[in-house]
Amino acid sequence: MGVIFSVCLIYSFIRYITLGPEDVSQLPLYVMNKALSWAGLATIGLSRLLGHAAARKQAGLIGALMIGLHVVMSMLGLKPEYLHKFFDSMNGMKLTGAGEASMLTGVLGLGFLAWMLWATAEQANGSSDSNGNLSLLPWVGRAVLICGAVHVALMGWDIWFAPEKWESYGHLPPITLLSFVTAVVFLFLRRRRA
Ligand code: HEM
Repeated sequence: MGVIFSVCLIYSFIRYITLGPEDVSQLPLYVMNKALSWAGLATIGLSRLLGHAAARKQAGLIGALMIGLHVVMSMLGLKPEYLHKFFDSMNGMKLTGAGEASMLTGVLGLGFLAWMLWATAEQANGSSDSNGNLSLLPWVGRAVLICGAVHVALMGWDIWFAPEKWESYGHLPPITLLSFVTAVVFLFLRRRRA
């Protein structure tokens, strides 16, 4: 998990600060938020593949924590000064349709994550009859990944197929695209049966 977070943070730092237009003063919130959201999504995806129940639970909880931090940080940074393309200057600076739909899928993803956490707490209280060998609510984990994939697609698809727009970021692909690929890969990978 430390490796996943470090890779995401180093990539975000290089794309936005070293090669991109951001100042190092944007590291604590803006750039860190990108690293945390991508790493959180990847850690939740990875957790579904882990064979050992305790490791799976730990990875799921750490991924959920990273996404929780991402939500708080996003709400602090959801302003035209940071994310001007989400806002429509012709409509009183309200969110665009794609921006609103992206936030809806983010909130739904958070709802599914809360459901997973609740199921985990129930199991810890002994009020669930799970045998500990199976994922709790495996389809809820899939739903989190699907919501995450749609969330980033709605905010980033317009630049995914326009590599000329990556120029000011050292030609590196956007994190929305990498996060989408991460979610889709983990959706299709399956845990090996023991
Ligand atoms: C209330 C719920 C959520 C809100 C308000 C929210 C908000 C945002 C915002 C504003 C951004 C753009 C940040 C930026 O470009 O700097 C973003 C990006 C992102 N979000 Fe969320 N999000 C939520 C839930 C989620 C969930 C549940 C996931 C994954 C399971 C997720 C994964 C991501 C990822 C991977 C990015 C791409 C990072 C980037 O390129 O900026 N988010 N989110």
